[in-house]
Amino acid sequence: ESATKAGYPHFMLKEINEQPQAISDTLLRRIDKNNNLILDDIRLDEDEIQKIKDIYIVACGTAYNAGLIGKYIIENLANLRVRVDIASEFRYNKQFINENTLVILVSQSGETADTLAAQKLAKTKGCRILSITNVVGSSVARNSDDVFYTLAGPEIAVASTKAYTTMLVAFYMIGVELAKLKQEISIEDYHNIVEKLKKLPQKVKETLSVEKKCIEIAEKIKNSKSAFYIGRGLDDSVGKEGALKLKEISYIYTESFAAGELKHGTIALIEKDTPVIAVVTQDKLLDKTMSNIQEVKARGAYTIIITDKHIEDVKNYADDVIQIPEVYDMFSSILAVIPAQFIAYYTSIKKGNDVDKPRNLAKSVTVE
Ligand code: G6P
Repeated sequence: ESATKAGYPHFMLKEINEQPQAISDTLLRRIDKNNNLILDDIRLDEDEIQKIKDIYIVACGTAYNAGLIGKYIIENLANLRVRVDIASEFRYNKQFINENTLVILVSQSGETADTLAAQKLAKTKGCRILSITNVVGSSVARNSDDVFYTLAGPEIAVASTKAYTTMLVAFYMIGVELAKLKQEISIEDYHNIVEKLKKLPQKVKETLSVEKKCIEIAEKIKNSKSAFYIGRGLDDSVGKEGALKLKEISYIYTESFAAGELKHGTIALIEKDTPVIAVVTQDKLLDKTMSNIQEVKARGAYTIIITDKHIEDVKNYADDVIQIPEVYDMFSSILAVIPAQFIAYYTSIKKGNDVDKPRNLAKSVTVE
């Protein structure tokens, strides 16, 4: 293993801290001086995009969670219908795919067996295949029509961090480009959104200052039996990734729920001091999520809010608040996940777990 920890105690902490650079490499090299995106390996042109009627995003694990964000971005910017499938389910689900379908495969390693099997099926149906991967020349890349390489550099820790955030960059750029090709946004709006994208590396860097607060939170939750993430829309999808991080390295049973679903079951699991982490970054959903937080707080939950908003009387809702920088609502997930990564990392450390190599898990799963 040639990679080194460069002075960090673990690869995961190093990789969390490498995110501003990884995001900058993935993003800024693909923006020219006139705020145009340069997506060289994606050859879909205006005529071809008109033929695309549906998009399927297919992936596993963290890459699947990135796909959930991708769905929101592409649907809302490019006005295309998107379905997200877990790769191991894809072949067994009823498919409505043909030559008018764009299949986006997402895989850090580009070697995950289930994702490759899904790719094989999509190819036999004549779908256009675009892959998002971190490994140049990987199997998934070699068998795709179009490729978006995330330039995250090698990721060693089993728990994915910089691969996830650079996958989000990929979806942001693909979403904006599809919107332009489909003429869903004006050229002026296109340039404005690209300008917003350019701010992300610096904002991610600023977000790393939440580390200290996350260490305190880890201390408070380390003995919990279970924990929950809640949120709505994009925030629900970030919660899914936050829950995966926490469970895979701290071994605390963690689930993520759409905040509005609490009342249909999960709220029965809330006891005194159960940690509930709410992600609140979407202006239009703020009031609704805040009232869900109140519901769990009233039942004794230990509530933590990750937000980029300045919420009035936030102390009435939250035992702890993690304030992150404000960006365009559509791109806030890339910042909101960072505290979730730190909380998972420090909880695992405090429990004495093997952070970089959690039990029973592998970095790349090459069996179906
Ligand atoms: C394994 C890893 C996860 C990863 C998933 C998919 O389960 O532990 O971190 O998200 O595989 O891997 P891929 O390389 O396809 O993104």
